[in-house]
Amino acid sequence: MPSLFDPFTLKGVTLRNRIAVSPMCQYMAEDGLVTDWHGPHYAGFARGGAGLVIVEATAVSPEGRITPGDTGIWSDVQAAALRPIVRSIKAAGATPGIQIGHAGRKASSNRPWEGDDHIAEGDPRGWQTIAPSAVAFGEGLPKVPQAMGKEDIARVRQDFVAAAERARDAGFEWLVLHFAHGYLGQSFFSTHSNLRDDEYGGSAENRGRFLVETLAAVRKVWPEHLPLTARLGVIEFDGRDAETLAESIDLVGRLKTEGLDFIDVSIGFSTPAAQIPWGPNFMARTAERVRAETGLPGSTSWFISDPEQANELIQTGQLDLVMLARPMLADPHWPYAAARKLGIENAAWTALQAPYAHWLAQYRAA
Ligand SMILES: Cc1cc2nc3c(=O)[nH]c(=O)nc-3n(C[C@H](O)[C@H](O)[C@H](O)COP(=O)(O)O)c2cc1C
Repeated sequence: MPSLFDPFTLKGVTLRNRIAVSPMCQYMAEDGLVTDWHGPHYAGFARGGAGLVIVEATAVSPEGRITPGDTGIWSDVQAAALRPIVRSIKAAGATPGIQIGHAGRKASSNRPWEGDDHIAEGDPRGWQTIAPSAVAFGEGLPKVPQAMGKEDIARVRQDFVAAAERARDAGFEWLVLHFAHGYLGQSFFSTHSNLRDDEYGGSAENRGRFLVETLAAVRKVWPEHLPLTARLGVIEFDGRDAETLAESIDLVGRLKTEGLDFIDVSIGFSTPAAQIPWGPNFMARTAERVRAETGLPGSTSWFISDPEQANELIQTGQLDLVMLARPMLADPHWPYAAARKLGIENAAWTALQAPYAHWLAQYRAA
């Protein structure tokens, strides 16, 4: 079985190790354009030794942003501004990925540190949200979205396709469709947010249709030699978990038939009433099951921060990659720290590139 620092090959892409930076919105964009914040942020993770660096949930349309500070890829100018980020990730030896998404009924929100709630009605910074049905999330997100018509569904699917084309042309080599966390894709799949009575609602097969059609359309433009992946909330922790998980595994199988190469297993976040059993590695067993039953390689995140645990998740075959978010914010050189903790010979050269490794290989901590 491989270890954390063994390479991982999928299609025509080889990651230098099994450490991936999970997508993290920075809420620092302006009109969807990356700013001076983003370049050093992403380059830092790549220089720190991660194998895969996934750029944050990037909106396929203006209305698909979670907040006014989200990055977007609905214009060529936005895509061109991402190119230096792609280059700096690659120059540091990591693979550049990007997540594209639409926030659905959770869009038009304030930044997390400015309330994390919907922008108040009448505030010109906000906008009309759309979703499968006119049902609000609740709690801090009370805005009732407009139910999407068939033409809206076709338009958003096309927005995903155009976004994938731009991501391809900008040089990204790993694409993540954001079908998790209560955003648009997830809200089609979830019974909490989808009350439709047409072919996009009702049965699990119908609730999965938007996701399957979107993935199939994206596959046509996303190069065959590059991994097409998705992030799906496979469980809601709402008391309907066995059924949701079985439906999710079935959906991932359908996505695989349409060309999905890899699944990042996450949580639905479709209802404020969820009772989530937070704890170290708590999603790993679920991810292992999805991986085993679909035959797709996969990953998960959520409180994987200890190098020995991360290594064990890879060595026991539960995950192909570990996705790390907050541990990488805390220490962008987490891979180097992990290599040292795992007692890897030449830890500096294993995790870092020459301008750092040369000096650290000679350094002996007192
Ligand atoms: C600042 C921040 C922004 C996030 N933004 C995204 C995002 O853009 N897309 C996404 O799928 N998940 C997002 N997440 C969730 C993370 O990708 C990850 O799943 C979560 O933080 C759990 O992993 P961790 O325990 O390693 O932090 C975000 C998390 C954080 C902390």
